[in-house]
Amino acid sequence: MTQTNSSAKKPTQKLVVANWKMHGNLQQNAVLLGNFVKHLSSLKHTQVVVCSPYPYLAQLQSLLQNTHIAWGAQNVAKSEFGAFTGEVSALMLADFGCKFVIIGHSERSTAYCESDENIATKFVHAKKHGLTPILCVGETLIEREAGVMEMVVGKQLDAIINTHGAAVFANTVISYEPIWAIGTGLAATPEQAKSMHLFIRNKIANLNLDAANELKILYGGSVNPQNAVQLFVVESIDGGLIGKCSLYAQEFAEICLAAEQSAA
Ligand code: PGA
Repeated sequence: MTQTNSSAKKPTQKLVVANWKMHGNLQQNAVLLGNFVKHLSSLKHTQVVVCSPYPYLAQLQSLLQNTHIAWGAQNVAKSEFGAFTGEVSALMLADFGCKFVIIGHSERSTAYCESDENIATKFVHAKKHGLTPILCVGETLIEREAGVMEMVVGKQLDAIINTHGAAVFANTVISYEPIWAIGTGLAATPEQAKSMHLFIRNKIANLNLDAANELKILYGGSVNPQNAVQLFVVESIDGGLIGKCSLYAQEFAEICLAAEQSAA
């Protein structure tokens, strides 16, 4: 595509993704999803997505189809099929109506030693099969204190850029998730998030402006109804990836409302 714009612009529609992690059961999920459908179906400027553990994707499909809420998984295999015990492919996720998949969350890359290269393969594979990958990037506290957070996140992006080019980021999602902020109650400040979001978008814009313009960049890490208001008004923040608060209907609804109001 011809590149006519001179600077990257942010998408206007907000995106809020619930990452349930390894929580829930059939009964609790039914109650929570019922609440989400009741309170979040009428949002006009905010796309809401729920990412559950694999076994509940059929439940999500049955309770969320014909609503405005989309669903997805928290990981995907890097192959299409084969002798890979315990893995779930992008084709299987699509079979259950998934539109999104979280890739490279630090809780996985740390505990299961996922390399940046592995994450890059999953990202491209998910996209190839029609899923929107949500790529998680972020630095540790030690890296932030050492001032090398941009270098760290840049390297995580380079794993994809160097093998597949920057164009692959078009119509995908990156979630900036400082590891020190995940599950700690200590969210990044709007200034810290803004600065990293600009770094990410500019890095991609310098290589492919169209891809940067068609990319959503979320913030994740201890988002709650209070800090969501301050974070989502930041122009470079397109929404959030929400862990703990997505397990509580009222708090998650307030976070989605904060997104809606900031986009309106
Ligand atoms: P948290 O999780 O909201 O519980 O901090 C965020 C995440 O894991 O992305």
